[in-house]
Amino acid sequence: MTIDLSINQGTHCSKKAVEVLRTYDNNTSLREYTDPENRDLLETLARINQVRVENIYVDNGTGPILRTALYEILRQRTQSSIKGIVKYLLFKKLDTPLITPRFTYKKIPPNAAKNGIPVAYIPLGPETNFRINPADVSAAIEANGDGIVYIVNPNNPTGNIMLSHDEIATLVAKHPDSLFWIDEAYHEYVDPDDYQTVAHLVRRHDNLIVSRSFSFAWGLASLRIGFFMADPKWVQLIEKTTVPYRIGKLQQDVALASVTDEEFLPSIREFAAKERTKLTEALEAYDNIEVFPSQVNYLFCRFKDGRSSLPFADKLRELGLLIKRETPHGGMRFEEYFRVSVGLEDENDAFIAKLDEALSVYPDHKPLSEKGEKKKGKKDKNIKLVG
Ligand SMILES: Cc1ncc(COP(=O)(O)O)c(C=O)c1O
Repeated sequence: MTIDLSINQGTHCSKKAVEVLRTYDNNTSLREYTDPENRDLLETLARINQVRVENIYVDNGTGPILRTALYEILRQRTQSSIKGIVKYLLFKKLDTPLITPRFTYKKIPPNAAKNGIPVAYIPLGPETNFRINPADVSAAIEANGDGIVYIVNPNNPTGNIMLSHDEIATLVAKHPDSLFWIDEAYHEYVDPDDYQTVAHLVRRHDNLIVSRSFSFAWGLASLRIGFFMADPKWVQLIEKTTVPYRIGKLQQDVALASVTDEEFLPSIREFAAKERTKLTEALEAYDNIEVFPSQVNYLFCRFKDGRSSLPFADKLRELGLLIKRETPHGGMRFEEYFRVSVGLEDENDAFIAKLDEALSVYPDHKPLSEKGEKKKGKKDKNIKLVG
């Protein structure tokens, strides 16, 4: 069986979620609808995130939300000016740019470009440990015009916090005509001391949208639940394009049990940190591999000498293991990089066990056994054991 460490799905869900699942155990368990607006879920999410019910939109995953909402918002902006409408009718090009870092959730920029949306990249690289310089965001807005600024925080694929709460707050206030979409899909993995969510700011700034997913830290990808928080005008705009009854009762009950289980997030952070350390040590035992510090459930890595990671990924595939590579887009290459997700313990062990063999595709590879005593890689800098 193939072990898939190319996809960022979570590992475990809350025990309380499992208790709920156990109650759905007979042939009438699934017959009920929820109320059309998922009021109970909205109220709980609103309380936890210090927003109001009317600030929240829930749907089947953040991926579908991003797709619907980004286009709806861009369409609305285009239609608000005659110049925008004419340009779209003549050239099928939208007026508003998508401004986003060079390394980001891979589906967003190529999809935007395919749909006539100009994409502008904020520089981002290993020399700054993949942190964004807020001045670069302002420079991109000044050079390309106000648009949608899409930032994943902590970032996918690099796994780090790119901008602090205060840096985002300052940018949002400084550029009121740009709309900031902060995708916090992996936020729950991060120690609250290291990053505070910007969700509560949506009550003050109508140019901020914050999205979240139950697919990762909550370990519920198979239930497909995501939501965003924003000024009610954005919630209403998207509600007009979709239908009520989006989240079923089973999804809602499991989500509610998860977010109200106070023990769960500390334990999942502890598990992810322990497995990150194990994977980091195994990868960095090879001198040519660099693993960037991560706060989430995946590790971003590269071959230090710039060699392509493709033969390595291909060999792993042959051995029944999948990892992720960045495909070129926007005229940029990412040849030497690869991303490994943190899987279950035995999945990570299986990956580590195959590393030597997979790296042997490179003619200059030296197996660890030839190097004498196994070299210790650097420790996960973010490990914090709980309890
Ligand atoms: C940054 C980011 N946002 C959103 C998504 C989509 O998540 P989902 O549709 O499962 O909620 C992903 C999936 O990989 C992601 O990495």
